[in-house]
Amino acid sequence: MTNYQVAVIPGDGIGPEVVNEAVKVLELLNKLDSTFQMGFTTYDWNSEYFLRNGKMMPDDALDTLKNYDAILFGAIGDRRVPDDVTVWDLIMPIRKKFNQYVNLRPVKLLKGVPSRYQGETIDFVIVRENAEGEYSNSGGRLYPGTEQEIAIQNTVITRTGTKKVARFAFEYAKQHGKTTVTSATKSNAIIHSMKLWDEAVKEVGKEFPAINLQSYYIDALAAYFVLRPEDFEVVVASNLFGDILSDLGSALVGGLGLSPSANLNPEGDFPSMFEPVHGSAPDIAGKGIANPIAQIWSAALMLEHLGRKDLADVILAAIEQVLVQKQVQTPDLGGSATTMDMGLAIREAIQLLLLVKEGQS
Ligand code: NAI
Ligand code: MG
Repeated sequence: MTNYQVAVIPGDGIGPEVVNEAVKVLELLNKLDSTFQMGFTTYDWNSEYFLRNGKMMPDDALDTLKNYDAILFGAIGDRRVPDDVTVWDLIMPIRKKFNQYVNLRPVKLLKGVPSRYQGETIDFVIVRENAEGEYSNSGGRLYPGTEQEIAIQNTVITRTGTKKVARFAFEYAKQHGKTTVTSATKSNAIIHSMKLWDEAVKEVGKEFPAINLQSYYIDALAAYFVLRPEDFEVVVASNLFGDILSDLGSALVGGLGLSPSANLNPEGDFPSMFEPVHGSAPDIAGKGIANPIAQIWSAALMLEHLGRKDLADVILAAIEQVLVQKQVQTPDLGGSATTMDMGLAIREAIQLLLLVKEGQS
């Protein structure tokens, strides 16, 4: 019997709508699998909370979250609160304080997904550095509002940080039977930070002689993603490059409604956080038509991280079944199903898959 406690932060916009469906999936597993038990505590830390309290979460929020096995996060962002506040007062503190230095983003073309690459096998992961790099709050502005104004935004690349994320990428490749790690760089133009990145990645690569390291400049790599996405296995990138590549990657395989991510603290010193790649989607929030697959898949990544890959595989198989059947499709997939219709269809598929499994064992 495995028993887990999960903190749930639904957030803003479509966040609560899709998180609801993910939690219902996990509750179904509670019911159907006697060896699995997961408890949930929901925290209403979002833009509403900010408008009431002047902060995105309470001062002791990280102490509270620290005690959970994992965090399931929806999305944040609300027109009434500046985006840099929501991001820097909620997501960044969790990622940084909990040392979630790996952002893992699978780019996998599921069967039944409308895509230009239908028929191709696209199945790789982006390992994005998640704790330093270009997304640092080091810098400032001088002479504000004048023609002489200067803005300096520092990129923080450390040998230790780069080696840690690179090691995760190579380990991942090794454990998943992959042969090549691709590193995104730009050391021809960004000569200090990206040269250190290259050196550190190469150094780690030497520890894994069976795995090839290929390095591409980010601009060329963006083109290769579009031209031959089936060639990639594991892509390791700095915070900014990884962020851009993962939106590109998600566009190749059906869009944001289908793209999950995991913010991992690989050592397990702190809880890891699981969230879709997409944001709060204010344009469709409240309409009940967001695709919950990215969120449900993120919950599957959470199960995999917690050691229940068997259940994660069942969820992914159920998602793929629903996509292939094309009976229930949210508007982003070309249909008119609601978020709840999609959630229900996936739960029904899970139920059938688990019954079959039980029958076989
Ligand atoms: P977004 O990801 O929220 O939306 C981009 C487009 O994709 C929109 O047209 C939206 O309707 C669509 N979309 C997103 N998720 C979908 C889903 N599950 N099903 C169907 N369609 C979906 O990005 P945008 O518009 O740039 O940002 C909106 C807000 O979200 C901003 O406040 C931004 O700061 C925030 N944001 C938050 C993130 C997070 O919480 N980690 C990540 C990205 C953005
Ligand atoms: Mg992004």
